[in-house]
Amino acid sequence: MLRFSLASSSQAASPQSLAPSPDMQFLDSLNPEQRDAVLHINGPLLILAGAGSGKTRVITSRIAYLVGDGHAQPHEVLAVTFTNKAAEEMRARVASLLGSEVSGMWVSTFHALCARLLRREAPRDRPVARLRDIRFVRSAVVVKQALKQLQIDDSFIQPRAALSRISSAKNRMEAPQAMADAAGGNHRDAQIAKVYTHYLNTLKESNALDFDDLLLKTVDLFEQSERVRSKYSQQFRYVMVDEYQDTNRPQYLLIPPPRRSAPQPLRRGRPGSIDLQVARRGSPEHPRFRGRISGKRPSSSSSETTDRRR
Ligand SMILES: Nc1ncnc2c1ncn2[C@@H]1O[C@H](COP(=O)(O)OP(=O)(O)OP(=O)(O)O)[C@@H](O)[C@H]1O
Ligand SMILES: [Mg+2]
Repeated sequence: MLRFSLASSSQAASPQSLAPSPDMQFLDSLNPEQRDAVLHINGPLLILAGAGSGKTRVITSRIAYLVGDGHAQPHEVLAVTFTNKAAEEMRARVASLLGSEVSGMWVSTFHALCARLLRREAPRDRPVARLRDIRFVRSAVVVKQALKQLQIDDSFIQPRAALSRISSAKNRMEAPQAMADAAGGNHRDAQIAKVYTHYLNTLKESNALDFDDLLLKTVDLFEQSERVRSKYSQQFRYVMVDEYQDTNRPQYLLIPPPRRSAPQPLRRGRPGSIDLQVARRGSPEHPRFRGRISGKRPSSSSSETTDRRR
């Protein structure tokens, strides 16, 4: 995988694309490194750059270039970010670069992406077909019920604290038993593991999902359905992830591994092939992320970056 900076002209990689058509004037407003990153559309790319150095600008310009210059149909582009505000901004920036709204692109948060995929695909796949009838719950209400039924005083375990522990465990894809095992002799932690078990049972019995389940059920959907896996790995020819360093485990599992020059088999549970990951340099303490960017993967080239604009 190619690693890339936004402001290091000496080692910048060369673009591997055709020359853009003349109406792609927005490319002129990019600095040389940003422009190279935008025009690099064949093969994966990891951008590591500092805050405010134009990382999101590269993603939005790349989407506009891909669609506006005819390299991809809108529905072949998937761009994911973390907040609704960021996703809205991304859509607006692309529209402003192209001079009009483009419909059919998949530009959204991870959660909105998952909700959309589940709505479209789950009813047709038997193992997760019940999702059609699913309802959403307010997690805080379920946790309070669990504490009450387990007769745990909420001054001993505050609902908010329990919920936060449960959500973190879910996002690490850790089962209640693992939490109980990790509790050792700690009574409070052992009780939280019980609340977690109760919480999951309540959701299951009432065929309900919480917010975290959106991600987890989508991971399941991709793991269980070859049809869904292959459909989206073909559809999403260009996948871009902003703030990649912030991905949790299920989000990470939903993002396909970088496409390298030699064809690689798709890993289980991954919907497609990634092309561009954008991360804030220096911020991550994320072990998986560290592994991915520290050169352990083969065929990486890298360059350092400084945080400056031109
Ligand atoms: N080459 C450029 N010319 C002019 N303005 C630029 C350029 N690159 C970035 N900017 C501007 O700098 C600001 C920050 O850009 P952007 O949001 O893309 O950076 P970022 O690296 O994604 O920031 P963050 O770390 O906050 O996510 C924006 O207002 C953007 O328009
Ligand atoms: Mg940004």
